Amino acid sequence: VIDIRKLYGATDAFTYDPGFTSTASCESALTFIDGDKGVLLHRGYPIDQLASQSNFVEVCHLLLRGELPTAEQYAAFENSVTMHTMLHSQFDRFFEGFRRDAHPMAIMVGTVGALSAFYHDSLDIHDPVQRNISAIRLIAKMPTIAARAYKYHVGQPFVSPRNDLSYSENFLRMCFAVPAEDYEVNPVLAKAMDRIFILHADHEQNASTSTVRLAGSSGANPFACIAAGIACLWGPSHGGANEEALNMLKEIGTPDKIPEFIQGVKDKKYKLMGFGHRVYKNYDPRAKVMQESAHEVLKAVGDPNDPLLQVAMELEKVALNDEYFIERKLFPNVDFYSGITLSAMGFPTTMFTVLFSLARTVGWIAQWQEMMEDPSQKIGRPRQLYTGPTTRDYTPIEKRG
Ligand code: ACO
Repeated sequence: VIDIRKLYGATDAFTYDPGFTSTASCESALTFIDGDKGVLLHRGYPIDQLASQSNFVEVCHLLLRGELPTAEQYAAFENSVTMHTMLHSQFDRFFEGFRRDAHPMAIMVGTVGALSAFYHDSLDIHDPVQRNISAIRLIAKMPTIAARAYKYHVGQPFVSPRNDLSYSENFLRMCFAVPAEDYEVNPVLAKAMDRIFILHADHEQNASTSTVRLAGSSGANPFACIAAGIACLWGPSHGGANEEALNMLKEIGTPDKIPEFIQGVKDKKYKLMGFGHRVYKNYDPRAKVMQESAHEVLKAVGDPNDPLLQVAMELEKVALNDEYFIERKLFPNVDFYSGITLSAMGFPTTMFTVLFSLARTVGWIAQWQEMMEDPSQKIGRPRQLYTGPTTRDYTPIEKRG
């Protein structure tokens, strides 16, 4: 690398940290992770306690407002979320513009970004009241948009939100009810759905959250920022991993194929999807809860001896006892068991990352709000190490070649 900066006598210094493995980009009071011990806290509360005792709307309150709500605060907060679930009727046209075989994440990126074209009364990022309305709108409308993307994808008519149901019940109904037919939400599935949303609610400065913060740092409106987060989440190294993890389990098929598959991983032909994490060098605490949910859901609606679950459990056992994975501290992450669970609940793989984006919206918008309230907030602007040519004179086209 020729250091052109020296030629120009540059004196400002900066660090070079590809992938930001050791650079904190902000202060945040939302989420704490101890990757070595496998600890995840939201505002101080352990994720396993939230997953077993709380519900998603309460966790949204916790992340956005800083505290678990009192009964009165909870009722008011839930009511405001419920009252914002509908979409503007002109939104229909956006959905109709997509090809039926469009990936639902493509629909999410487009439609969530389009919210900024509808809600002009909550685009003033300097007004805390408007910021709050945007946050509530996003949390409330994401299930409606996600369910609509699903219905469009499977070619069924859209089911409108129902205000008497809980957040997760309403979402499942919008996805799986067929208009004019009776549909009872299975309470085991509603509980599992809620728990999956809690597990995905926030995870400090991951790639998509950092994307939301970076987009927001320029003063972009919250709907545009969340659309940027959705785009980033889509990648297979991030939110897209749950889709890839299930595809991988299907490809392996039976436990006897595991040794051959593991050899391929060691030969660097492919990665074990749903394994490894930039921060966790121990078991991802969310993966433990997700494994329990997988068992519960399969017992309620699927086959408790589902061959994919058998493959997953055997694969985990083999990997956790293999030197390659031990040396590199590779453990199951939240995506390892979520695919099996979501699939048993009836979702196609293409919807997995959509559900992740629905749940992560609260983390993204809470982080965005925190950033907007921070008086020291600056536009995010990393530097680079320039590796191109040093200064050279322009050559007219007839003299090139
Ligand atoms: N399978 C096999 N080997 C792996 C895996 C894996 N899943 N993950 C990391 N490794 C290996 C790497 O090849 C590397 O080996 P080397 O030292 O011989 O070169 C070593 O472990 C370190 O890996 P890095 O790529 O440096 O780790 P990084 O922190 O950059 O990557 C990541 C983290 C992207 C999550 C990675 O583990 C991965 O791709 N996992 C599979 C995809 C996945 O499950 N993603 C979901 C993440 S959680 C989420 O977004 C909710």
